[in-house]
Amino acid sequence: MPPIVVVIDDEPLQRGILKTILEDEGYEVYAAASAEEGLKVIREQNADVVLTDLNMAGMSGIQLLEHLPDEPSRPAVVVITAYGTITSAVEAMQKGAFDYLTKPLDKDVIILVVGKAAERMSLLKENIRLHKELYDKFNMEGIIGRSQKMSAVIEVVKKITSTPVTVLIYGDSGTGKELIARAIHYNSPRKNAPFTAINCAAIPDNLIESELFGYEPGAFTGATHRKPGIIESSDQGTLFLDEIGDLPLLTQTKLLRVLQDKEVRRLGGKDTIKVNVRFIAATNKDLEQEIEKGEFREDLYYRLKVVTVTLPPLTDRREDIPSLVNFFISKFNKEFERHITGIDNRALKLLTDYHWPGNIRQLGSVIERAVLMADTAVISLDDIKSELKQPVCGGIMDIEIPEEGISFEELEKKLLKQAMQKANNVAAKAARLLGMSYKTFWYRLDKFGINVPNGTRPPKDQI
Ligand SMILES: Nc1ncnc2c1ncn2[C@@H]1O[C@H](COP(=O)(O)OP(=O)(O)OP(=O)(O)O)[C@@H](O)[C@H]1O
Ligand SMILES: [Mg+2]
Repeated sequence: MPPIVVVIDDEPLQRGILKTILEDEGYEVYAAASAEEGLKVIREQNADVVLTDLNMAGMSGIQLLEHLPDEPSRPAVVVITAYGTITSAVEAMQKGAFDYLTKPLDKDVIILVVGKAAERMSLLKENIRLHKELYDKFNMEGIIGRSQKMSAVIEVVKKITSTPVTVLIYGDSGTGKELIARAIHYNSPRKNAPFTAINCAAIPDNLIESELFGYEPGAFTGATHRKPGIIESSDQGTLFLDEIGDLPLLTQTKLLRVLQDKEVRRLGGKDTIKVNVRFIAATNKDLEQEIEKGEFREDLYYRLKVVTVTLPPLTDRREDIPSLVNFFISKFNKEFERHITGIDNRALKLLTDYHWPGNIRQLGSVIERAVLMADTAVISLDDIKSELKQPVCGGIMDIEIPEEGISFEELEKKLLKQAMQKANNVAAKAARLLGMSYKTFWYRLDKFGINVPNGTRPPKDQI
């Protein structure tokens, strides 16, 4: 789209010439014979640049400037002054004009100055758009969920954004840990510095330290040059350490030192470098259990959990599902330029009853697919059903009994194992998934001789 220019001059001849010159340059040009009329056109056309004479019958160019809204998106105004009235040009600049031209007008100068004004406006608009996009994405209102549990989370998050404290976010996969981390960053005084995320579980143990702390040439075979680590390059910003529970013990010790001393030393380096980084860590493991197993350092744990935020699984806040569904429908409507208006009751009921092992991330992809595939404007059961296998309603599973039959014990064994897996080997959670007491759960695991990972089993007197 070409930039939009409004030319205001009460002299018809000059108005016409200016319009022609600028149209030849590819602008979309509107002409107005008075400042009053000009203001109207500026508003209607959402003008980028205004080229206006200063001395006109009725409202003057200066008054026009005063009438423009005082906001960043207001158009860039270029004023035209008669030779010898430079003081009025100065006044116009003080009132926020972008530049001025003196009569007699020179075609090349007009083109140059209007070009600069248009370029500035396009940069400004792009900037405003990007800021708005970031704001929309990470402002607190973008975190959907008015359930009591989610409101409590948002309250805590609001309180801590302005402070530099370290935050530990607990939550199962897809519950919004990274979204919360980003919201903290983009609502904090660090918002203009980088937000960096690193997934501790996705980086092999032998590489994680060089990633985090960087290295000097010769630090290890293959270290041919100096490389700053992620901590160092997150200076002034926020570093999100995802799946912190998977950080190797030795690296935990080094990270603890960074948290305590606020400085890093590159691998193979002698000097320490001061850093000012806000750390946010996330995990879906029970770190207290990891400590008991000797796999997580207790001192690091206390350093990290200055503030803890626990994200509830989606099934603990089913009342948020309808608003999340609407949120995702409009998100994907925009993305795919579709016009889905909503979802029918039966489909929504299935979504609210589902057990959501993948939480909000999974709900998002179900809606994404439905928005893409729906044949009608309203999402129906058919659009989502195939995505939701094994619908579990309120804890009751649809189990097909095979022709050859199945032993009840086999089934139970399968369920116990599945529950342990789903709960990441946290027995208390697995027991809760099956609606059993902790004691019963262990009794039944033992009965079937189900193996559990080392260190998971509590001492006998605790069961
Ligand atoms: N409350 C929410 N409102 C709106 N969107 C959300 C909300 N929570 C999560 N999402 C969206 O769901 C998706 C998953 O969220 P996110 O990546 O933050 O989860 P996570 O806990 O880090 O997941 P994982 O453990 O899989 O890494 C993202 O697209 C995110 O924008
Ligand atoms: Mg994540």
